[in-house]
Amino acid sequence: MPSNDINVRDAAAILKAGNVVAFPTETVYGLGADAANEVAVQKLFALKGRPAAHPVIVHLGSVDLLNDWAVDVPETAYTLAERFWPGPLTLILRRREGVLNTVTGAQETVGLRVPGHPVALELLQTFGNGVAAPSANRFGHVSPTTAAHVRAEFGNAVPVLDGGPCGVGLESTILDLSGRVPRLLRPGAVTRTDLEDVLGVPVGARDENAPRASGTLERHYAPRTETLLVPDAIPVSTGHDAVLSRRSKPEGAEAERWLALPDDPAAYGQRLYAALRDLDALGCEHLYIETVPDTSTWAAVRDRLGRAAAPAGLEKQYG
Ligand code: TXA
Ligand code: MG
Repeated sequence: MPSNDINVRDAAAILKAGNVVAFPTETVYGLGADAANEVAVQKLFALKGRPAAHPVIVHLGSVDLLNDWAVDVPETAYTLAERFWPGPLTLILRRREGVLNTVTGAQETVGLRVPGHPVALELLQTFGNGVAAPSANRFGHVSPTTAAHVRAEFGNAVPVLDGGPCGVGLESTILDLSGRVPRLLRPGAVTRTDLEDVLGVPVGARDENAPRASGTLERHYAPRTETLLVPDAIPVSTGHDAVLSRRSKPEGAEAERWLALPDDPAAYGQRLYAALRDLDALGCEHLYIETVPDTSTWAAVRDRLGRAAAPAGLEKQYG
């Protein structure tokens, strides 16, 4: 057992003491701090290397805590919570007065979610209050989906509560309910179609007035290897390329490393970030990623692939 591996009780005590702890969720591992403790949240930003103006999601152990953090909560929020919580959906709501500016990025809204991982729920319920948590990676890196990924990011600087590999593997869907129409800020395992089926109204796209979300930086989930999206015929010619595909390596292809993920959006998404880390670690010249279908169920994977492959230099632009 690695020296920074801890149990739920330890983790709750660390949060209570105003320190940072990494914990599993069903989407990706989070880097958690007491969301009501300014100093603790600042420690979290410092560790992650994240710009101070970026808001973080507050994780709750139960929907009953929603009103401690948000005001003017629309009925639709409860309808969605009923259907999708605990689970991979974050709701952006109007914040209650007193919610830290460090948490909201000084906006009038707060992001809230009840995660669907039993260890996360146990931690949140033991701790008893909101836990601010971005993904447990350094700013701009690929999100961690195992405890080992978190250790690769932070070494012994952060204690890690190990809950095994994340079942979803991609960050939560973010839905903004703070305006006149619901808007999808980030696609995830809960699809636009899932949301529209429950809401009975169309879900809009992010617009320029939408709140900032660092997941919406053009290039944010990026491997270090030059990454290119290719339609299907993958140009493998040198021995210095890696390929991420949904097909097994064709006869005669010369890619040094060919990794095939399942041709199913949930299974592909669950393994995507681990695959990007593994392929990136090979130090290849290029990483070719085969595009995925332009359908609602593939939207979250497609979004992350697009961001992984956007040209370097776009990090500071909003997509
Ligand atoms: O699945 C997830 O959501 C994971 C796990 C740990 O829960 N968390 C996660 O956190 O992906 P992070 O910080 O890497 O991304 C959260 C996104 C960011 O893009 C952030 O800007 C956005 O949520 N966000 C948080 N509060 C917001 C707000 N009030 N308005 C708009 N966006 C917000
Ligand atoms: Mg992140």
